[in-house]
Amino acid sequence: MARIPLEDNYTDIIAKAQRGMKISDADLAKRAEVDVAAVEALKAGQVTDAVLRRVARHLRLGPDALENLAHGRYYPEVRVFPHGFAIFNTAYEDMRVNSYLVWDARTKQAAAFDTGADCGGMLDLISSEKLRVQSIFLTHTHDDHIADLKRLAEATKADVWASEREPADYPGARTFRENAHFHFGELAVKTLSTWGHSPGQTTFYITGLSYPLAIVGDSLFAASMGGSATHYADQYKNDVDKILKLPRDTVLACGHGPLTTVSLEKRNNPFFTT
Ligand SMILES: [Fe+2]
Repeated sequence: MARIPLEDNYTDIIAKAQRGMKISDADLAKRAEVDVAAVEALKAGQVTDAVLRRVARHLRLGPDALENLAHGRYYPEVRVFPHGFAIFNTAYEDMRVNSYLVWDARTKQAAAFDTGADCGGMLDLISSEKLRVQSIFLTHTHDDHIADLKRLAEATKADVWASEREPADYPGARTFRENAHFHFGELAVKTLSTWGHSPGQTTFYITGLSYPLAIVGDSLFAASMGGSATHYADQYKNDVDKILKLPRDTVLACGHGPLTTVSLEKRNNPFFTT
C-alpha cells in the first residue's frame, strides 16, 4: 500500500488547538506578542520559525515538534506486524479513513475495528485467510468510520459492539462499558474510554500479537489528535492518561493517517511534547 500521509499538517494543528482552547487569531497574536498578520501568514503556510515557536508555546504545543512538522521532518516509521493484522485505508468524500482487521493465526478467529468507507478489501482478506469474524468493534459512530457497517455485519454475521456512551444505530447492536474484556483465540481486547472527539470514543487495547496494539480511532493521530470544539480538554486528558501510559512499544492504529507508536508520539506529537 502507498504510504499514508499524516492526517494533519502544522496549520491544522494550530487551528485545532485554537478551536479547542477558544483562542482567536487576534488573542493568539496578543499572547504570543506577534502581529496578527504574522499569525495569519503562519496559518497560510508561510513558516517563520520564531513566530511558529511563540505561537506553539501559547497553544501548549511542543515548539520543536511543531517546527519539525512544518519542515516535513517527521513521519512515523513503524514496523509492521508479521501476521494477524491488516489496515484498510479507504476514501470517504474528500478524506481517507482507516479500518482494521485483527486475528489469531492459529484459530482464525478475528475481529474487525470500524468498517471504513468500503469494507470490500476487508471481506476479500477474510475470505482468503478463511477467518471467522466474531465481533465488529466501533471506535466511535461518526459516518466515515461506520459507512459500510450493514454490508460488513451481514457478510460476517458478527456482533456489532460500541460504547454504551455512543451506541450504534444498528439492529441488535450491543454495548460495552469501559474496561470490558473480550477474547478471540489467543488475543485479548480491553476497552479504554478515550472520549472527547465523540462521547463514547473507545480505544481497544489488544495483546497477544507480536507487539501490544491499540486501535485508537480519532482519539489520537500520528503527530496530532482528534479535534473537539467542546471537549478538547477531555480528549487531551484521556490521551495522556490512557493511551500514552500504555507500554512504549504499543503500536497505535489511528482512525486517519499512518500507524505510530506510544514512544514516537511522546517524542514527536506537538500536543504531547510541551
Ligand atoms: Fe474520523
